[in-house]
Amino acid sequence: MAELLKLGVLISGNGSNLQSIIDNIEKGSIKALIKIVVSNNPDAYGLTRAKNHGIPFAIIKNGDYKSKEDFDTQLVNILKDNGVELVALAGFMRIISPILLKAFPGRILNIHPALLPSFPGLHGQKQAVDYGVKYSGCTVHFVDEGVDTGPIIIQSAVPVLDDDTEETLAARILKEEHKIYPQAINLFAEGRLEIKGRKVFIKS
Ligand code: GAR
Repeated sequence: MAELLKLGVLISGNGSNLQSIIDNIEKGSIKALIKIVVSNNPDAYGLTRAKNHGIPFAIIKNGDYKSKEDFDTQLVNILKDNGVELVALAGFMRIISPILLKAFPGRILNIHPALLPSFPGLHGQKQAVDYGVKYSGCTVHFVDEGVDTGPIIIQSAVPVLDDDTEETLAARILKEEHKIYPQAINLFAEGRLEIKGRKVFIKS
């Protein structure tokens, strides 16, 4: 049997995407294992999810570091110490520095709650409701030095309804996030993602 891909999952909050990754690993749909969950928020519910499944976790608080670079250096140390091969940002509410990018070139994925390149940054769901688009969705992409600008792996669209609020749209999008993030991670684990410039090709 091929070796399992060693994952590090970075969270800041509820961790429902972490949960979907855990569930898909446990049912054999992702050929990976989570070596470490790292949260920058000590109160993140995602930490309880990690505990419930016996997954090691670490907490690094924003305020404990003088600079973004110091924070990311510590983050890289934790990920490397745990043998992490792929970093999955799952509701990690920090902009990462080149230190993390250089440590894991082409090996950091993010899930964003909008159809990029529309509505990058914070509150993608609110941006979509306020703008009046008829469809929004979610995007899994490789992380590059920009904010939500890296090559796109998978997207899923959902309708935006007339009476949607940020919360109702977020819930509809989240259901899709829980499908496409595990799919994208497994494609990476199977070595089926090929980046050419801005484009990601999925090899059969
Ligand atoms: C998700 O909707 C994710 O796409 C979003 O935060 C939520 C985290 O939910 N991420 C971003 O907005 C990143 N800019 P979760 O903690 O339940 O997985």
